This record gives sequence, structure tokens and C-alpha cells, in this order.
Amino acid sequence: MPVRPAMERITLEVIMRVVFGIEDARRLGALRALLPRLMRIAGSAALVRVPPNVRERALASPLLLRAGALPTTRYVRVRDEVDAILYVEIARRRAEPDTAGGSADADGSADAGGPSDVLSQLVAARDEDGAALTGREIRDELMTLLVAGYETTATSLAWTFERLVRTPGAMAALVAELDAGTPAARGGTSYLDAVVKEGMRARPVVLGAPRLLDDTAKIGGYEIPAGWYLSASIPLVLTDPEVFPEPERFRPERFLPGATSPEAVARANRSWLPFGGGRRYCAGAQLALLEMRVVLAEVLRRVTLTAARPEAEKRRLKNVTLVPGESGLVVARPREDGASG
Ligand code: HEM
Repeated sequence: MPVRPAMERITLEVIMRVVFGIEDARRLGALRALLPRLMRIAGSAALVRVPPNVRERALASPLLLRAGALPTTRYVRVRDEVDAILYVEIARRRAEPDTAGGSADADGSADAGGPSDVLSQLVAARDEDGAALTGREIRDELMTLLVAGYETTATSLAWTFERLVRTPGAMAALVAELDAGTPAARGGTSYLDAVVKEGMRARPVVLGAPRLLDDTAKIGGYEIPAGWYLSASIPLVLTDPEVFPEPERFRPERFLPGATSPEAVARANRSWLPFGGGRRYCAGAQLALLEMRVVLAEVLRRVTLTAARPEAEKRRLKNVTLVPGESGLVVARPREDGASG
């Protein structure tokens, strides 16, 4: 089976429940079908290749929006269906101020006992003047979190499985740790943590973290003028052999203080930037890392995975992400001693 679509089903469910906080089975069912369609159409070559000015005009023209064959029309129809559900959810939370947590704490966490989904916190948020976000602003935030958080996490999981099934030693060490119960803490880092880090290092999903310069930047003897984009190349940094010796090898031990010198681990951690860095560091990094740990553990408790083909999968560009060319093709066999379900 290809593992990436299976991971997408899980990460979509997480966004719908943890971020959108939707519990109603009917609305969940509708979004389960609509959101992948929206992502597919929004990223489709048919829509992306329409020049931006033509696209804007087509999106604003009631006449053109009646032409069902146009990619812009197909996009707007699905988007409007999704929006209708999201606006119902936003209105529902607004109508229940007591259960919306009242106010989000300064650190962004919900009041104790209140719902902790992101939508509830967005509804409860107030700016310095006490103003709430508009419905449209909340909807935009939810869509941003969906687009940024759903395929990225699924693809990272698929790559980690793709690497693990081709590195039997690492797979055996991980399964042994999981079978032993609570992951053994080695200097605060479990083998599971190290596998997640190494998966994201060996196969980063996002290529860069661009910044638009508002002033001249001097870097490595070059002067780059204001108005240019400057970006670290995430894959280049993560394969720097001075920081990550034998970068082509999948070796979680490089993040384990027990197996590698503390200085080398600290250096590896400093250069580990699959989530970008600085002020615009990924807002969902902690959620993504938690998801990856839980999903890896739960899958490997239930099934034994092996590579469907021996050769490594090629990297394929999909929108702005790098995905496994065969979607992470694995053979999954139920574990006789494993958890059921
Ligand atoms: C393994 C999964 C993920 C990867 C590899 C990833 C990667 C990234 C990267 C490279 C950036 C740009 C950082 C920069 O410019 O310095 C970013 C930004 C962002 N990510 Fe993620 N991300 C992941 C998961 C998530 C999740 C689960 C969410 C939310 C549910 C999320 C929400 C965001 C948001 C909102 C931003 C923009 C932050 C800002 O500009 O202030 N991401 N992510």
C-alpha cells in the first residue's frame, strides 16, 4: 500500500478535530470529502497555470463563475461549500461563549476545562482594544492552518516510513523501544524522538523559508539588495557533512546523546531546521512532532512494515513540498503479537 494517502487521512482528521474542533458527525463527514478536493483543485496545474490577473477576473465575474468547466469555477464551488461549514462552526462557538474558554491566556492556552481546539481560541481572542476577530479573519486562519499543516505532516510521516523500511537496524531499534513500553529516555531524547528528527532531516518536506528583504543584506561576501527574496536552502543545510556526517545515511543515533558526543548532538540540533527558524518558525511544529510520534508508535505496534521495492523512492515536487515518488510504497503485515484494531 502507498503510505502517504493513509497518513493524509490521519492528519486531516487531526486538523478537523484539534484545530477546527468539529465533533458533529455530519459536518465531519462532509469536510472529510471536501477538504482533500479543495486542496487538490487549489494546487492543480489547471488552476495554478492560469495567469494571476486572468484568475482574479474569473474569480470576480458572476458570468464566468457560471461556467462549470473552468477550474476557477470548480474551485469556488468547493471552497464555498467548505466555507459554509466553517461559518456554521464559527457561529456555533460564538453562541456558546461560556464553553469557548472565555478568554485565551497570554500564552495562548485555553482556560482550564474549556475546549482547547484552535477555533475556540480564535473566537475567544481579543486584541489590545478588546476587539474580536471577524468571521472572515477566523476562516482565513483556519484555512492557513489546514494548508500549512495537513499535507506537510502526512508527507513527513510517509518519508520517515520510507527511510525506516530501508534501514532495518533503525526499524528494529525503534520497534524494540516501543515494545519495551515507555520510550527509554537517553539524555531526554527517546529513539522515537530521534527517528522523527532524522526522518525530517534526511527527507525535508519544505525546501526553503524565504524572507523578503526590506534592507540590504550582507551574507558570505555578497550584498543582496532590498526587495529581493533570500532563503536558506533547507535540504542543503540538512545535508551539510560537517554537521551531519555521512548525510545520505539514515542514522537516528546522530541525535542521541548516549550514542554521539553531546557537542555533536548540540551542533546537529542547532542546524536542524525543517520547520524554518526565527520569528516565522512553523506555528504547528509541536503539533506535527506530537502527531508523528503518536502515529509512528501506533502503526508499528499493529503492523510490520517492509519496503515494497528495494530502491529508495525519488523525490517529487508537489506544489511547494517534496513527496516520495511512489507515495511511500510498503508491505504491511499484521503483527501476531501486536495490538488489535
Ligand atoms: C512536518 C510537518 C510540517 C513542516 C515540515 C512544516 C514546515 C514549515 C516551514 C518550513 C515553515 C516556514 C518557517 C519559516 O519561514 O521560517 C512553516 C510555517 C508555518 N507552519 Fe508549518 N510545517 C509543518 C506542520 C505544520 C502544522 C501541523 C501546522 C498547523 C496546524 C503548521 C502551520 C504553520 C504556519 C501557520 C506557518 C506560518 C508561520 C508564520 O509565518 O508566522 N505547520 N511550516
